[in-house]
Amino acid sequence: MSIITKCQNKIEALQSNGNLRSLKLVNTDGDYAIFKDKRLINLSSNDYLSLGANKTLQKQFIKQYGSLSFTSSSSRLLCGNSYYHELFEDKLKNLYQKEALCFNSGYHMNVGIISAFDNKNTLILADKLIHASLIDGILLSKAKFMRFMHNNLEHLEQLLNKYHTQYEDIIVVVESIYSMDGDICDLKKLANLKEQYPNIILYVDEAHAFGVRGTKGLGLCEELNLIEKIDIIAATCGKALGSTGAFCLCDKAVKDYLINCMRPLIFSTALAPINMAHNCFMLEQIIQMQEQREHLSKLSQQLYKCIYNKFGSCQSSSQIVPLMAYSNDKALNLYNYFIDNGFLAMPIRSPTVAKGTERLRFSLFANLSFEKLHKLEELINAL
Ligand SMILES: Cc1ncc(COP(=O)(O)O)c(C=O)c1O
Repeated sequence: MSIITKCQNKIEALQSNGNLRSLKLVNTDGDYAIFKDKRLINLSSNDYLSLGANKTLQKQFIKQYGSLSFTSSSSRLLCGNSYYHELFEDKLKNLYQKEALCFNSGYHMNVGIISAFDNKNTLILADKLIHASLIDGILLSKAKFMRFMHNNLEHLEQLLNKYHTQYEDIIVVVESIYSMDGDICDLKKLANLKEQYPNIILYVDEAHAFGVRGTKGLGLCEELNLIEKIDIIAATCGKALGSTGAFCLCDKAVKDYLINCMRPLIFSTALAPINMAHNCFMLEQIIQMQEQREHLSKLSQQLYKCIYNKFGSCQSSSQIVPLMAYSNDKALNLYNYFIDNGFLAMPIRSPTVAKGTERLRFSLFANLSFEKLHKLEELINAL
C-alpha cells in the first residue's frame, strides 16, 4: 500500500470516529476571536495576563525596538546568539537566582532537554498526564521510563522506593499546573521526596503557571518558595508572557551540558533578536502584574465553584477550567452551544485526552470582567 493510500485511509478513519482535525482561521482582536463571522470572547488562548492582546504595549515595543532584526540567521552556537538572547537569560538569572537558558519553543525545550539525558543508568518517572513535548523527549532518550498515576505522589513514592537503588539518577517529570485539567502538583511534597531520595532530579514544567503564580509571576515554584529546591524549572514565553520561545532555569553544569549536547538547541536557527527583545520587554511587564494575577485568581475560583455546584465536581484550581463532556460528540455540541452564545472554548477531544474524558477547556484571562464571567456562568447553569 502506498504512503498516499495509507494517508487517505487514516484520514477516513479519523473522520468516521469524529476525530478529524483541521486548521481553522481565527483572527484575534484584543480579548475577542473573530471566528465563523462571529466576534467571540476568546476562552481558548493561553494569553492569561492579556499581554498578547495589549495593543498599547505592542506599539510601545515597536517604537522602541522595531528596527531590530527579524532573523538570527543561524543557530546560537554559530552566529545567532544576539545581545538580546543573553539579556533575557541575564534577567531571568537575576530573578530566579539560577542559570537560565532560552529555546525556540516549549516543545523544542522539553524534547531537547529530556532526550539530552540519554543515560541507560537513568530512570525517568513521569506523571501520567504530562504534555506531549515531555513524552516525546522521553521517547527519544535512552533512559528507562515509567509513569505514575496523575498527581498521585504516593504512587511516585512507591516507585522511588522500589527503584532508587537500581539507577544512578531518577528524573521526576511533572507540570506545576496541568494544561488540560488545570489541577496542580503538590510541589512541596515533591521537594520533600528529594530529601529522602537524593539521587532524584526534579523537572517541573511551569508552562501554565509562569506569569500567573507567585508575586513576581515566576510560577508556582516562586509562590511556594521552592525555586532553589527544583533542579530544572521549564517555562514557555508563548502563554502568559504574550511572546514566543521558552526557557529553563538550572545549574551552570546543566546549562553548559545542554549547550553542548541538546540537539534542538545546536541544530536549529535561534529566535530572532526582535523576539528576544520582546521577551525581555514582556518580562519587565509581568513582574509588576500582581493586580492582574489576583483578578485572574478570583475569576478562576468563581468559575470552578460554578462548575462544581452544577455538576458536583471540578478538578481545577487554576485559570484553566475544564467542563467535562465525556465524549467527542458531546464536546462538539458544547463547543457549538458556547459559540452560539458568544464564547469560543475549543473542544479537547480524544486522543488528545483519554477516551471518556473529552471536554471543553475554558482558559481565563486577566482582562475578563466579572460581568462577562457571569454571562458564562448563566450559560453553564442553563445546561
Ligand atoms: C505543559 C506544556 N509544556 C510545553 C508546551 C509547549 O510549549 P510551546 O507552545 O512554547 O511549544 C505546552 C504547550 O501547550 C504545554 O502545555
